[in-house]
Amino acid sequence: MAAYQTLEVASQGPVLHIRLNRPEVRNAFNGTVVEELQAAFAAADADANARVVVLSGNGKSFSAGADLAWMTEQADLPVAENQRSAERMARMFLAIARCKKPVVARIHGHALGGGTGLTAAVDMAFCTEDCLFGLTEVKLGIVPAVISPFVMQKIGAGRARTLFLTGERFDGREAQRIGLVQRAVPEGELDATVQKAVNELLAAGPAAVASAKNLIVAVDGLSLEDAIPVTSKWIAQLRSTPEAKEGFAAFLGKRTPGWMS
Ligand code: COA
Repeated sequence: MAAYQTLEVASQGPVLHIRLNRPEVRNAFNGTVVEELQAAFAAADADANARVVVLSGNGKSFSAGADLAWMTEQADLPVAENQRSAERMARMFLAIARCKKPVVARIHGHALGGGTGLTAAVDMAFCTEDCLFGLTEVKLGIVPAVISPFVMQKIGAGRARTLFLTGERFDGREAQRIGLVQRAVPEGELDATVQKAVNELLAAGPAAVASAKNLIVAVDGLSLEDAIPVTSKWIAQLRSTPEAKEGFAAFLGKRTPGWMS
């Protein structure tokens, strides 16, 4: 497994754990983190043994977002280079959102700025009830630009309006209420809650899970009429795959499917 400076990456059976590992700056991300997250998620895509990715952070907080010392350095770069650096960050979020494996985030402490962005980019996020989120960028004189599409896709433009404009912090319970996370739980229940979600994902057909992720991208924004040719072709192809045949046979034969053994 590749050695990283700012991440801890470890496999546990079919689960690939990617842990942000700059606890001294609350897992704020600089250019190295951006590069390494991009690489780690590309490796997850290519890892035939990995069926679920769990993203978490070491130390007191999940992530304090962009490293402000690094942001200051980027601001001093020539315009084109400054923009390329921002685009690399945007592509890192995209690599997470488009990871071929389902991505589950375990959020504790703080998830501010880009930390909230990471929470939005994953498929499912679980957090402690009292952890704090916030699109705090305006408090620093900037905006949550590259993360805006990920956050808006998850919570909607209406909710984003208040949160982007005020930069107010909000807790895990509120994050659950607005749909940023699936569930906020007491701290002692966080690991078991994440594990339960991972188990649900592992009980599903691996190719079906990947296909479900692509389906959402393909159908999002289509009218009900325009969706019909897309969705009918989709299920026609999927139900004839070896995995679907195994799933149907396992159900009808009252046994567990092969991917669970
Ligand atoms: N960029 C760079 N350094 C950061 C950072 C960031 N986003 N967030 C925290 N740090 C550094 C602090 O400067 C501090 O460094 P020091 O030990 O050299 O003084 C260290 O991390 C610990 O931070 P501290 O504030 O003492 O920890 P805390 O646990 O009390 O609070 C936070 C954690 C996340 C609430 C707080 O650090 C914070 O508000 N950070 C900024 C978050 C933010 O607005 N992010 C948006 C970026 S666009």
